[in-house]
Amino acid sequence: METRVVFQSEQNIDAAVMKEAGELIRAGELVAFPTETVYGLGGDALNAASSAKIYQAKGRPSDNPLIVHICRFEDIYEICSQVPPEAEKLAKAYWPGPLTMILPKAERVPGETTGGLDTVAVRFPSHPVAKAFIEAAGGFIAAPSANVSGRPSPTLARYVLEDMNGKIPLIIDGGAVGIGVESTIIDLTGEEPELLRPGYITREMLMETLGTVGQDRTMMEAHPTGRPKAPGMRYRHYAPKGELTLVSGKSDRVAAYIREQCRLAKAEHKKTGVLCTEESLPLYQTEVFDSVKCMGSRASQESVARELYRVLRECDDEELEVIFAESFSEEGLGQAVMNRLLKAAGHRTVEV
Ligand code: TXA
Ligand code: MG
Repeated sequence: METRVVFQSEQNIDAAVMKEAGELIRAGELVAFPTETVYGLGGDALNAASSAKIYQAKGRPSDNPLIVHICRFEDIYEICSQVPPEAEKLAKAYWPGPLTMILPKAERVPGETTGGLDTVAVRFPSHPVAKAFIEAAGGFIAAPSANVSGRPSPTLARYVLEDMNGKIPLIIDGGAVGIGVESTIIDLTGEEPELLRPGYITREMLMETLGTVGQDRTMMEAHPTGRPKAPGMRYRHYAPKGELTLVSGKSDRVAAYIREQCRLAKAEHKKTGVLCTEESLPLYQTEVFDSVKCMGSRASQESVARELYRVLRECDDEELEVIFAESFSEEGLGQAVMNRLLKAAGHRTVEV
């Protein structure tokens, strides 16, 4: 299958392109599209065969449920059998936006879309192209991130093409995404609201709206004894092919440790890399590194979230074998960044 890439600017959405994308979805095909978090791989959420195609294109285990994207708040009642007041409050505060809610599913949502669960993940994205696309496609788009399973989520259409070329007919290119890490997931089906995946909408923000919010204890742990409640959080994710280690401590000690480790690796003819920040960049100007990558500035957690997946992908493009990354505080958006970095590193961490 030939994969076409069509650019759409947020300011000037082409109705003909949206119509074509909508028709592809109604015909059971898949279309990749931009959202404010990462690119999604969309199919008709109410069509079991489309969901099966999504799993196939991603190489994803079919027990890992998909998020259903909507383009009007009211449509939540079409796909959920119960919508508690907490969901309405959160929607008022943060929708459209990077927040996904888990709710009991309505019968019309096929089990293929929800990985066999009787709950459904619902998200109303804010990206104008995403909204226009969902509307043109009938209102209910099942979409995981548009990467091959295990790779970092795509933050550019170019990365979608890398992973999906030949597998889907159309990629809508909306340029670079704004946030760069996937939506926050909150489960509203238990006794107390529970954070399952950290994201741009932080736990503090959720608590402002709801009061208490629990947190899946397997989210940040190295050896979780329990099963993560979001099935996707079980799998190894985002990991580069090389060995990635996170290093925490005072900046100059971290840099000294990483330089020494990479000097040793270089002596064994390994390709070395460091993932650092604007602030620490000058500390890594030596030939022991084949690659020095900047993840953004410590002064802006947003910048780190935006650059993170690009940098992880480039580690593979450059075939780096031994990679070190600096750590961040888990405050605010830092929790989402550290959750992804810890997964990418398979929880290999060093404190210096
Ligand atoms: O920002 C995002 O959420 C992006 C964009 C495209 O919207 N989508 C995304 O989808 O990250 P995906 O499939 O890569 O991640 C969805 C996560 C998985 O960890 C999955 O297990 C969890 O949501 N999930 C989906 N339905 C669930 C359910 N009913 N109960 C618990 N977890 C669920
Ligand atoms: Mg994903």
